[in-house]
Amino acid sequence: MKLSVIGCGYLGAVHASAMAELGHEVVGVDVDAGKIASLAAGRAPFFEPGLPEILASALETGRLRFTTDMAEVQGASVHFVAVGTPQSKDSYAADLTYVDGAIESLLPYLSEGDLVVGKSTVPVGTAARLAEIVDAGGSGAMLAWNPEFLREGYAVKDTIEPDRLVYGVADDRAVPILDEVYASAIGGGSPRLVTDYATAELVKVAANAFLATKISFINAMAEIAEVTGADVTQLADAIGHDARIGRRFLNAGVGFGGGCLPKDIRAFTARAEELGRGESVAFLKEVDAINMRRRDRVADLAVEVLGGSVFGRKVAVLGVSFKPHSDDVRDSPALDVAVRLKGLGADVVVTDPEGLDNARARHPQLLYTEVTDEALRHADLTVLVTEWPEYTALDPEHVASIVRQPLVIDARNALDSAAWKAAGFAYTGLGRS
Ligand code: UDX
Repeated sequence: MKLSVIGCGYLGAVHASAMAELGHEVVGVDVDAGKIASLAAGRAPFFEPGLPEILASALETGRLRFTTDMAEVQGASVHFVAVGTPQSKDSYAADLTYVDGAIESLLPYLSEGDLVVGKSTVPVGTAARLAEIVDAGGSGAMLAWNPEFLREGYAVKDTIEPDRLVYGVADDRAVPILDEVYASAIGGGSPRLVTDYATAELVKVAANAFLATKISFINAMAEIAEVTGADVTQLADAIGHDARIGRRFLNAGVGFGGGCLPKDIRAFTARAEELGRGESVAFLKEVDAINMRRRDRVADLAVEVLGGSVFGRKVAVLGVSFKPHSDDVRDSPALDVAVRLKGLGADVVVTDPEGLDNARARHPQLLYTEVTDEALRHADLTVLVTEWPEYTALDPEHVASIVRQPLVIDARNALDSAAWKAAGFAYTGLGRS
């Protein structure tokens, strides 16, 4: 099929490459000329495992191209909208400027029978509003909403083998078109659900709200564990054996971040308030508050273990991306902790395998190094904030030999505490005695 993908960020670049890899002919469009030049040259503009490989192989087939010129979507019959919906500057609501702009600029190029497919995460009610705009354009094109559930770090796999497909449609003629787009995933057994627009939009925000709630639930238990001497990791293991609860997303620590969970739960509360149902999701404000308190807790612990002040003390911050296998620092708990410690007067040195450029662009006042040992050398305190495998695999004996003081805070409960203690470290996890 001939497809276009509008927006070539974390979502769109992977979607465009994966669709071309699966045999479709794809044009990716973005307003950012630098990003388009990079993609067209086969360079992924961000770190995503597996993307460079599928980008290169899809470009080589000639089925994938990138452009800043919207007119080049002509000839494609399915147009994916994969632009960002960030948090608004002045409120919790999602900023729909880019989605609205993408639809407006697509309109002149749509033809009878074309399908516009929204993938961006939007407040419930957006698809119905956009469908009216598409209808008013008079092209005879249809709109569907097909939310994306990919996780950064696993985006290629999640796109090629999604754990479910959701089609929000107003016209059943959209269904066989989407089935053809996703023939490979459907053939591979991915379940597909056909819903109305509102349900499809809600599926996405409900899924992210549930995941955020699960993480904040275990972090709330960590807060209780901290005042009772209980161990939240053992608690999570024990309750996780109940299949109804499950162990996944019960890792207590510094909490969730990234470009989705934080802004999606905030946008959901804002939308529910607009709909007069603010009380239905009021608990998400508490989910957010618990999550933000974990960042304070790590900063407080740093002050505590350093005897009352971090001022002038060297703190090695291991990890800055919001999670391992990603260079994304949007709403990253790790970056936030580093900034807080710097604000308290610590000499913060941050290291990360992939996230340094993005972190440096946002917070040039921090010191950065690509070399883990440089960050650790003469450190008074080591704080693990993003559980990259290279940090969880560190040899504590080696670390002990280069730091000034053997103090470690494990803000992800990801280190082998016994091994670090055996190497002489005073080990502090979160929610653990
Ligand atoms: C999330 C959803 O998982 C995905 O389905 C949706 O499409 C986009 O949002 P992503 O933002 O890539 O994906 O990250 P995810 O793997 O969900 O992790 C989110 C945050 O939660 C990370 O900061 C992670 O460190 C944190 N987390 C995760 C925990 O603190 N504890 C856990 O047990 C799991």
